Amino acid sequence: MTAHTPVADRAAEAARAAAPCERGATVWLTGLPSAGKTTLAFALAERLRHEGHKVEVLDGDEIREFLSKGLGFSREDRHTNVTRIGFVAEKLAANGVKVLAPVIAPFADSRAAVRERHAAAGTEFLEIHVATPVELCAERDVKGLYAKQAAGELSGLTGVDDPYEAPTTPELRIQTQGRAVAESAAELHAFLTERGLA
Ligand SMILES: Nc1ncnc2c1ncn2[C@@H]1O[C@H](COP(=O)(O)OP(=O)(O)OP(=O)(O)O)[C@@H](O)[C@H]1O
Ligand SMILES: [Mg+2]
Repeated sequence: MTAHTPVADRAAEAARAAAPCERGATVWLTGLPSAGKTTLAFALAERLRHEGHKVEVLDGDEIREFLSKGLGFSREDRHTNVTRIGFVAEKLAANGVKVLAPVIAPFADSRAAVRERHAAAGTEFLEIHVATPVELCAERDVKGLYAKQAAGELSGLTGVDDPYEAPTTPELRIQTQGRAVAESAAELHAFLTERGLA
């Protein structure tokens, strides 16, 4: 590492040398509606806070009520929503916060843009695919969206009649089928530990 090392590389190196509690990172949970993103994010957040981490959850639904109020569900608006969340996440993560983002983020290029922004700043970004099959998501149907879509009362449901581009090379793919919430959350926590983040 020399004086000519790019700022992003120096930031990344300094971050890696820090203790797990001091290291910021964005942990993006992508997956279909009812896959378990929000549930896992809050379970992980509670555990991390307990362990002394600074944690923020940027939940897709909450963001759409405030930061992204007025945006719809077109491809363009979904992209804008994801890049806005990515922008805020990077700022927080650069300051030592563990940012958990349970947000569908259906398009690969939107997620890539967020990854790029983090890489340029030397901030850690982990993409976690909550890979619950659509059939199980539709059975869970936490918000009743799958039923509404099936009844013809709603269209543009991600993974059903709107695209979901599953990540091809996420940092971690998590199964929730046949697993208790605590088990999946523990798997996620173990992964962060492996990465020196927990
Ligand atoms: N192993 C598991 N991990 C996470 N959730 C699970 C698991 N097993 C069952 N569930 C249940 O699945 C449901 C997931 O709902 P949740 O709101 O977390 O989904 P979501 O991915 O955030 O959906 P949306 O995109 O609509 O916000 C919850 O009722 C949760 O209790
Ligand atoms: Mg959710």
